[in-house]
Amino acid sequence: MSAVRPRLVERYREFLPITDATPALTLGEGFTPLVAAPRLGARIGLPNLHLKLEGLNPTGSFKDRGMVVAVSKALEAGATTIICASTGNTSASAAAYGAAAGLEVAVVIPKGAIAVGKLLQALIAGARVVAVDDNFDAALAIVRGMTEEPDSRATLVNSVNPFRIEGQKTAAFEVCDDLGRAPDLLAIPVGNAGNITAYWKGFREYAAAGRVTGAPRMLGFEAEGAAPIVSGAPVERPETVATAIRIGNPASWAGAVAARDESGGRIDAVSDEEILTSYRALAETEGVFCEPSSAASVAGVTKLAAAGSLDREALVVCVLTGSGLKDPHTAEQQVGARIIEATADEAGVRRALEW
Ligand code: F0G
Repeated sequence: MSAVRPRLVERYREFLPITDATPALTLGEGFTPLVAAPRLGARIGLPNLHLKLEGLNPTGSFKDRGMVVAVSKALEAGATTIICASTGNTSASAAAYGAAAGLEVAVVIPKGAIAVGKLLQALIAGARVVAVDDNFDAALAIVRGMTEEPDSRATLVNSVNPFRIEGQKTAAFEVCDDLGRAPDLLAIPVGNAGNITAYWKGFREYAAAGRVTGAPRMLGFEAEGAAPIVSGAPVERPETVATAIRIGNPASWAGAVAARDESGGRIDAVSDEEILTSYRALAETEGVFCEPSSAASVAGVTKLAAAGSLDREALVVCVLTGSGLKDPHTAEQQVGARIIEATADEAGVRRALEW
């Protein structure tokens, strides 16, 4: 008997590049909840709204699905060092899986532009953290350059590493398995565009294997100040409160466009205000605390539903990509000074609550 829960890569092994030679690395990734969101759904006019809670992965974001495959394959190939550029979550995940695999980890981040929780996750796991005075796009170009040569010291574990996409597509499988069908609409934030590419690959493969019939329309949402796919041109200085998707030239641009066009979906932009409104609404109506970037998926369907662009009865899944605990500063700014001081007795607390 084993008390250890099944591994994600075993559950979907037939769809993954996992062989008997691949080391069995895991931190318990995947198997995340898909929950109905009736109160939020009623508020925005989509009664069939569901949330895929990817913040419940081991390092608090969906990156773990791809990282477990990328790091396992790096180990299999005899790597000793991994490197990535990151807006925070990829670095947190690379640091954790690298630590568990006994690898040297280096991460390159845009200086001053990643949430504090993510930075601490990388540091506590012992990763070498290099902050550059530029944005994510510049950091990615640097690490791509450093890993181009076949004899390079390090393996690149950004989503341009195809093993990342392979692992991340398992979220689409889980959504289908939990619903017993493919959703009608799948809404997802878009930054470097690896995840929308991965979900679409997953939905197509599941349908091709006869596990489900059909596939959802893919709805991708960029932040307004970082919306290269929507505007059709790279954004030199991307800006948004949603730092995880503060990206001006996505590596998987073509994958996102293919997901949109092949599924009959769309890629749209949402403002920081719309993102923060949805961020608060998720917590207030459903008790789900996600990070601002994740709320872009809900902000997007909220906007499209208000414009009458969505079928009210559609089975909608919004992917909430990361945990709100990663970014306490944004939460702090949103809640303001809401703590009520009281004397340490019953009367004092009653007075404070006006009970
Ligand atoms: N949501 C969160 C919480 C993210 O961290 C990211 C990307 C995305 C959405 C967008 O996913 O890039 O596949 O389109 N974060 C990357 C990082 C860029 O470095 O952690 P994408």
